[in-house]
Amino acid sequence: MLEKLIKKYNIPVPRYTSYPTVPYWGEYNPDVESWKNRLKDSFIKSNNSEGISLYLHLPFCESLCTYCACNKIITRNHHVEERYIDYLIKEWLLYLEIIEEKPIIRQIHLGGGTPSFFSPKNLEILIDRLLEYCEVHAEHEFSFEAHPGNTTREHLESLYKKGFTRVSFGVQDFDIEVQQIINRIQTKEQVIELTEIAREIGYDSINFDLIYGLPKQKLSSIEQTFDIISEIKPDRIAYYSYAHVPWKTKGQRLFSEEDLPSNIFKRELYEYGKKRLLELSYSDIGMDHFSLKDDKLYESQLNKKLHRNFMGYNSSNTILLIGLGVSSISDSLTAYAQNAKTTKEYYESLDNGKLPLIRTYMLDEEDQVLRQAIKDITCKRELNLDEKILHIFPDLLSTDLVDMEREGLIKIENKRLTITDLGMVFLRNIASIFDKKLRDSNTGDKFSKSI
Ligand SMILES: C[S@@+](CC[C@H](N)C(=O)[O-])C[C@H]1O[C@@H](n2cnc3c(N)ncnc32)[C@H](O)[C@@H]1O
Ligand code: SF4
Repeated sequence: MLEKLIKKYNIPVPRYTSYPTVPYWGEYNPDVESWKNRLKDSFIKSNNSEGISLYLHLPFCESLCTYCACNKIITRNHHVEERYIDYLIKEWLLYLEIIEEKPIIRQIHLGGGTPSFFSPKNLEILIDRLLEYCEVHAEHEFSFEAHPGNTTREHLESLYKKGFTRVSFGVQDFDIEVQQIINRIQTKEQVIELTEIAREIGYDSINFDLIYGLPKQKLSSIEQTFDIISEIKPDRIAYYSYAHVPWKTKGQRLFSEEDLPSNIFKRELYEYGKKRLLELSYSDIGMDHFSLKDDKLYESQLNKKLHRNFMGYNSSNTILLIGLGVSSISDSLTAYAQNAKTTKEYYESLDNGKLPLIRTYMLDEEDQVLRQAIKDITCKRELNLDEKILHIFPDLLSTDLVDMEREGLIKIENKRLTITDLGMVFLRNIASIFDKKLRDSNTGDKFSKSI
């Protein structure tokens, strides 16, 4: 039965960190004035209460992991650090001019690329310069992505001093054969030591990124990885489905597709990992995320306060996210804006005193209804099929949802849709029912497969 469902639903669908998803934002012709207006409206709404979120993209990495689908720049030249920081601050100052008031910062996430590529000293300088013009929310959550290969005690100490209490280590897989083909060697001892140091310093939420579906992965390699997880018990695990998008990322052409596990075997790797995680008392948050029950992510899921944006699932819901740095995306609830993807373009715009935007998208009323619907599905596991939704999709209850209910993925009672445990496996597919842009356009092949 599960095999049949996997065959049917393993099709390209988005991960829904936004609606509409990025490929539907139209031409590279940013409407900067509308973006500024919508940003300002959201800022006024959010600043007196929950505060705002900042995402900083630090794109540099010392070596290429062949599976990586992120926006990165491979270099061993560390002189790039200071210049990049100067431009991040230039960009931030442009935003401060628009919002005019002192912002209250609730969340900062340093992503990449590899934030730990930067020296501890430079990271301190970056955070000091960033926060010079702000207040920090009493319940702030500052987090960063750390590569075990180049993260030191000093990195962890420096950022902790600046208010960071969450760290995400890119672990992926502990098996040496897998590590060799993905060009990312890091030992179990290295990861255990760093985790212990982070805990000793005071980090209260440690995440490990793992990936299933990597080249050369076997059940025995995954078993070993989960044995190590059971020793360390990080607070959160992102157990990602390997996204194979070789048309977008050249590194993925460096290994043969024959080395990739089949769809069915990939699913087994997921099922195995999930079983181990549930046995270890992790809770399934959705879309590849698991957390221990004393972590805030679980509490947010329980209280139906989970939030999902470009940073993935998180526990605090701010309506304004400003993304700084190359390729970053900002989200003001009613509008999105995407930055230039190369440092050349990014630096040039900022040298001209302009926001480095390459495109924007203003959500209309229909988009806003569907954005909320998809968020309810992915974050709350439920959705009220109210008039607004049925007006957009008049046949919904007699067509698309019928099959899914029969297959046991959802339940519908009194026009209230809930997702079953089996449905959690196909969350992306269920959400895609409400993705009008995808349905109207037939261009799903821009995305990775759902399983
Ligand atoms: C942008 S990376 C930043 C982390 C940091 N640079 C590191 O490598 O440790 C964030 C995470 O994205 C995930 N990731 C990257 N490429 C992926 C792919 N093709 N499929 C699934 N997950 C991927 C990895 O788990 C990685 O840890
Ligand atoms: S996985 Fe991390 S370190 Fe590796 S290339 Fe991607 S961003 Fe860089």
